[in-house]
Amino acid sequence: MLEFKKISRDTLGVMCDAAGSGVDFYGLCVDCVGDVLGCGETYILNSANSCLLVVAEAIGDCVLVCDQGGWNGFIKSCDVFGKKVMYFPTDDGLINIEKLSVYLEEHDVNSLYITSLSGYTAKQPLNDIKKLCDVHEVLLILDISGSIGDETVYEYGDIQIFSTGSPKIINIENGGILHDKTGKIQLNKHLLKTLKADKITCAGINHEIRKTKKTYEKTIQTNRYLKDKLIKKLEENKNYTVIHPEHDGLNTIITTPSKSIAKKLAYNIRQKLETTGNIITTGPQYNRIKRASINIETKNLHITSLTQENMDYIIEIVYSEITRINHQKK
Ligand SMILES: Cc1ncc(COP(=O)(O)O)c(C=O)c1O
Repeated sequence: MLEFKKISRDTLGVMCDAAGSGVDFYGLCVDCVGDVLGCGETYILNSANSCLLVVAEAIGDCVLVCDQGGWNGFIKSCDVFGKKVMYFPTDDGLINIEKLSVYLEEHDVNSLYITSLSGYTAKQPLNDIKKLCDVHEVLLILDISGSIGDETVYEYGDIQIFSTGSPKIINIENGGILHDKTGKIQLNKHLLKTLKADKITCAGINHEIRKTKKTYEKTIQTNRYLKDKLIKKLEENKNYTVIHPEHDGLNTIITTPSKSIAKKLAYNIRQKLETTGNIITTGPQYNRIKRASINIETKNLHITSLTQENMDYIIEIVYSEITRINHQKK
């Protein structure tokens, strides 16, 4: 049985105790997040979407986002405040630096919002993106929901955001972090106060944050195994390919010949997989890739389920269902 992510027992205990305690868990949480992310002002809010709402209110026009592989919650927040959003054409979610350079020369861009792991599946070239943003004085809003635990991303972004909702690396089922690294924008104090996280959430984050590196690395490593094995298995089958095969991510995306096949395949796989929650989603969708695909969301699994045996079990079911659907087509 594959276990879907849920709040770990020890963290739940800490959260229960926090309910009746007088400890300043908000302050403790701000300090521990600051220790991880480095210099800047930290705010703990009730969700990452709340963080993005606060940021959307504060930034100027125009905002650039990727045409896929991003997070549509940010675009919805920009809509609320009437901020103009422009879409940058990517290679299946990944930014091409030469093209971004030309784009920023030709357009008046105020801010760029990106997820550090495009579609949770491949890392953006953050160093080059940061350099371009500095040259063009573009505010870089970096959503590190998929990279918390990866120390190499912490130096990037004027604003960093990540979710501690479910199913995430820090999995509290609630909460979001807004870390303002450079103080270039004025965040609305009323919104920050209104959307502030409660002490139970803060106690949970405070406790869980020490596990991030281990959870992140285990998920990356397990997903690498899954990707490599599926690449080999699907070698002969040109209609089904693993997206961004050489990149590390928290999920594995396989293209399918059509959207209807993706839906059917995902349904069949879900019927076979013994899980306590859904780990198979489908594309095209903005938050992953805009191609017909099935997405194996390794990130949704509890760390104890991230075993080689379980990955072999997933591979077997995915491969046999692809083979079956191919035979039905003939
Ligand atoms: C990349 C990314 N950013 C932001 C969010 C929003 O998080 P929350 O549920 O905490 O609002 C999500 C949620 O899945 C996400 O995947």
